[in-house]
Amino acid sequence: MAGSPTLLPESRLGATLRRDAWWVELLPAIILLGGFGLYATLRAFEGAFFEWGPYLSPFYSPLIDPQHHWWKFSPALLILAGPLGFRATCYYYRKAYYRAFFLDPPACAVGEPANRKYQGETKFPFIIQNLHRYFFYLALVFLAFLWYDVVLAYNFGGHFGIGVGTLVMTLNIIMLTLYTFSCHSLRHLAGGKLDCFSCATLGMPRHGAWRALTVLNERHMALAWTSLITVGFTDFYIRMVASGAIHDLRIM
Ligand code: FES
Repeated sequence: MAGSPTLLPESRLGATLRRDAWWVELLPAIILLGGFGLYATLRAFEGAFFEWGPYLSPFYSPLIDPQHHWWKFSPALLILAGPLGFRATCYYYRKAYYRAFFLDPPACAVGEPANRKYQGETKFPFIIQNLHRYFFYLALVFLAFLWYDVVLAYNFGGHFGIGVGTLVMTLNIIMLTLYTFSCHSLRHLAGGKLDCFSCATLGMPRHGAWRALTVLNERHMALAWTSLITVGFTDFYIRMVASGAIHDLRIM
């Protein structure tokens, strides 16, 4: 057809007919995901400066055996698999890191490394991606603990109080909650899998829930990045206060 783009004769890494700077999209994912991965790994293994006063780092919640009675390593390592599994199997993050780190493919209509045979997510280790829905259930349990931590962050020695750390933790749990409830799996469970709401049990309430979740789901990418930043910053803030590098400002 006249005027339509012609296909490239071969597929090789980076081969494309695109004229825009498609590679710019990769940079935020490389910088943010790479930086967060490095920081979170170091913090998870550090095993120190994770609590101060009423504050507990989200990387260490729920806090298990902090006195090292039976677990000799960092308590964060006991719970890491939950939040890590949820983020790593997230549909949006999969797209981001497949492109940024595996170049598979680097972008839409851009060639991937030659001789790659596409197998979907049908073989180990990528078949694990299909467990995302179960990681979502686990994420709800983690959210409950994190909300509990935030309630405790308003309790200064038995008295109601608010510090900068309280506000940081509150903002973080709100962003984490919005991110979790914008999950594609939840939207599917609520109603995305239905062909006919009026024919289904509890069809109308499910339709309402599906519509509300769709509003969040449309913002899933933005919530994924925002919540990644807030959870990393919350841990960083508590580490700074706990190590004595900065003082927590008491507002009330
Ligand atoms: S799809 Fe991203 S958290 Fe479920």
